[in-house]
Amino acid sequence: MAEVLEVHGLTITAKDTNRVLVRDSSFSVDAGETLCLIGESGSGKTLTGKALLGMLPDGLLMAGELSFGGEVMSGYGKKEWRQVRGRRIGVIYQHPEQALHPAIPIGRQLVDLLRSHLPVTRHAAEASARAMLDKVSLKDTDRLMKSYPFQLSGGMNQRVMVAMALLLKPELLIADEPTSALDVTTQSEIIALLQGLVAEEQLSMLFITHDLLLAGELADTIAVMKQGEIVEQGTAAAVMHRPKHAYTKQLLNCRSSFRFTSEEGAYLYVGNR
Ligand SMILES: Nc1ncnc2c1ncn2[C@@H]1O[C@H](COP(=O)(O)OP(=O)(O)OP(=O)(O)O)[C@@H](O)[C@H]1O
Ligand SMILES: [Mg+2]
Repeated sequence: MAEVLEVHGLTITAKDTNRVLVRDSSFSVDAGETLCLIGESGSGKTLTGKALLGMLPDGLLMAGELSFGGEVMSGYGKKEWRQVRGRRIGVIYQHPEQALHPAIPIGRQLVDLLRSHLPVTRHAAEASARAMLDKVSLKDTDRLMKSYPFQLSGGMNQRVMVAMALLLKPELLIADEPTSALDVTTQSEIIALLQGLVAEEQLSMLFITHDLLLAGELADTIAVMKQGEIVEQGTAAAVMHRPKHAYTKQLLNCRSSFRFTSEEGAYLYVGNR
C-alpha cells in the first residue's frame, strides 16, 4: 500500500532550555490506515501532531523529515502549510472550541471554509455543508446551519468538528484525543462515526490517545511514546498481544481487562471485571 505520511527522525527541542521534547521519532501511515500514537501525559503526542500540521509553537525547534503524499513538508513556509493544513490534512481536537468559532453560526463556518479553498458558489457550498452535516449523522440541518456552537451539546459540536475536518476531503485526518472529554456513550458514538467515515472515504488517520484499549479497537498499527521517544511500534495485534517493551506491558497491566496468560504466552482480552 502507498505511504501517505512518512516521518523520519522527528526531533523537537525547546530553544531556551535545549530540552528534547520529541526524540528521533520515525513512523509512517499507509493509505486507508489508522496509526494510533499512545503514551502517557507529556510524552510528546500533541507536539508530534502539531509538527505534522506546521503548528509548532515559536519557542520550539524541529529537525527530521516529514513527507506527505511523497512530498517533503519539513521545509515548508507559512503559505505552503496553509495549503496543506485543513485542506489535505484535517484535524480534530479534544475540545470543539479549538476548531469552532464561538460567535459565527455553524453553517457560515462550513461555507467560509469551503469557499476559502475552492472556487464554489455560496449555494453549492451550502449544499455541501448540509450534506457533510448529514454524513456525521446530525439531524435538522436547516436549524443547525443557523446555530452557534454554544447552542449545541458537546457531542454535537464534536460531530460538527468532524464535519469541518472532512469537508475538504483530506487524505489524512489527525485526531488528538477527540473523545477524551466526552461521556462513555457519546465517546463510543463518535468513535463508531470516525471508524465508518475512515472506511468509507479510505482516509488515513493518525489517532492520538492515552487509552490503549481504544487504540486496540481503532488501529491498524500502534506507536507507543514515552518521554518523547517511540519505544515500540508494530501492528495493533502485535503491540496489544505480544508487547516487547516494559512500558507497553505496564500500560496493558493497568487495564484490568487484559491478562498475561502463560499457556498462550500472550496478552488476552478478558473483558471488564
Ligand atoms: N511550547 C512549549 N514550550 C516548551 N515545552 C513545551 C511546549 N509545549 C509542550 N511542551 C512540553 O513538551 C512535552 C510534550 O508535550 P505534549 O503536549 O506533546 O504531550 P502529550 O503527550 O500530548 O500529553 P497529554 O497526554 O497530556 O496531552 C511536555 O513535557 C510539555 O511540557
Ligand atoms: Mg496532548
